[in-house]
Amino acid sequence: MEWWSSHRIVAALLPCLFLVDMVAIESVEAIEDSGPTEQGIAAKIGQEIFLDESLSRPVGQACVSCHSPAFAFADPRPVSPGAVKGREGRRNAPSLMYAALIPSFAYEDLFTEDGREIYAYEGGLFHDGRARDLFEQVQQPFFDPNEMNLTDLAELAARLRRSAYAGEMKNWIGPQRWKDDRQLTYHAFRALVEFLKDPMFRPFDARIDDYLAGNSGALSESERRGLEVFRGPGKCADCHLLEPTSWTPPLLSDFGYDNLGVPSRGEKDSGLGAKIGDEGMGQFRAPSLRNVELTAPYMHNGSIQTLQEVMEFYNKRDLEPQRWGVTDFPETVNREDMGNLKLTDQQVKDLVALMAAFTDRSLAVSKYGKPFPSSRKPVPATAAKRLYFPDWTHRLHAAFPGAPDEVPPSTDKPPNPSKGARAK
Ligand code: HEC
Ligand code: HEC
Repeated sequence: MEWWSSHRIVAALLPCLFLVDMVAIESVEAIEDSGPTEQGIAAKIGQEIFLDESLSRPVGQACVSCHSPAFAFADPRPVSPGAVKGREGRRNAPSLMYAALIPSFAYEDLFTEDGREIYAYEGGLFHDGRARDLFEQVQQPFFDPNEMNLTDLAELAARLRRSAYAGEMKNWIGPQRWKDDRQLTYHAFRALVEFLKDPMFRPFDARIDDYLAGNSGALSESERRGLEVFRGPGKCADCHLLEPTSWTPPLLSDFGYDNLGVPSRGEKDSGLGAKIGDEGMGQFRAPSLRNVELTAPYMHNGSIQTLQEVMEFYNKRDLEPQRWGVTDFPETVNREDMGNLKLTDQQVKDLVALMAAFTDRSLAVSKYGKPFPSSRKPVPATAAKRLYFPDWTHRLHAAFPGAPDEVPPSTDKPPNPSKGARAK
């Protein structure tokens, strides 16, 4: 490895980059003081797109149909039905809370406890990381035959031009871009990304946040015991990290990939293996456990119904093979970190209790009728911190919105790299 590509050197340079960024931050805040920001306008249009059921073929399905605010923007059904009657995917729709903070897909070097350098895949969107980042991800549901089922960008553009928010969107991007299918849809995707970066998706106001900030009374006795197990004999915190890895409080995931050996639901699902081959077969990205209490059923295929069962699975998977049945790729199952943890029934109960401490208060409220959660105390606190979202640096030109050189050359092909990842 060349000296200049070493991560340590890059880390040493980071503080300088921060100084440069400070200048940018101030200007963004200045804009915000004098009215809505470009990102604010985009996020509002993104929200309309998120709710718009006229964008699917046949009409009747929107993002919100499978990502419901009442369930932390996940789907309570194991798999979601598509816009076309009789079609369905084969994976459980995950929560969109904190999705904008998932790091981009990468092959990273890490250091083990004994100081060895190892490489591992991490990050990326979807359970198998097939979208490099959120911008790549938000394009796919429109064209997935098991989801919104559109044919191409022209069809999406035509529907956007007929939408209830057409005037608003045309104002935002101007008449030239409005006429160009590629430009128009590019801005629709950007708007969705800005919406998913909205403070309401990153409140960090769960009781675990208070506890980690020093308020020991924030957890019940049982939850505190659960946390001991989570850090200790359960080994949960090895992957569902309790320490922050970037500028936010902990996301309760390292976003690494593993095959837990979860029950098969029929046709084999390669997971990360579709991208990297044999060693990744059956591996899926470790999810954030934030709001996990609200997002049953569990695992990439929705094969486990309750948190109690999830804990029993981690604890005794290898002792009760008949209970859990076959798994898709037995040869790559992680047998070192789980499957026979030797936890007592009480410890299992305490782990289940702990999961409730991961629920954001603003979301718990939204269960009772509000369409969207409130976002009084977003983290990070200012719109300026949007600069630090993983998709910012390589996707978003400083002259947002719509620096024309950001938009790829026109083609009629829909952006749908999901082939092979889903059942027809
Ligand atoms: C028919 C149901 C359905 C619709 C409609 C749908 N999604 Fe999803 N969404 C899913 C499923 C299922 C997954 C997981 C798929 C996978 O991993 O292969 C997913 C994954 C995601 C993810 C990745 C989250 C993560 O943790 O990696 C994001 C972000 C997302 N959807 C946003 C959207 C947006 C934005 C829309 C609207 C444009 C949308 N979804 C429409 C079902 C749906
Ligand atoms: C070696 C890494 C690793 C360890 C250790 C680990 N997990 Fe996980 N966890 C994962 C991965 C990967 C998934 C997703 C697996 C899948 O979908 O097939 C997951 C999924 C989960 C889910 C389901 C979340 C959802 O939204 O579907 C819960 C709950 C969970 N883990 C809790 C725990 C607890 C509690 C422990 C400790 C007893 C633990 N995990 C230990 C990696 C790990």
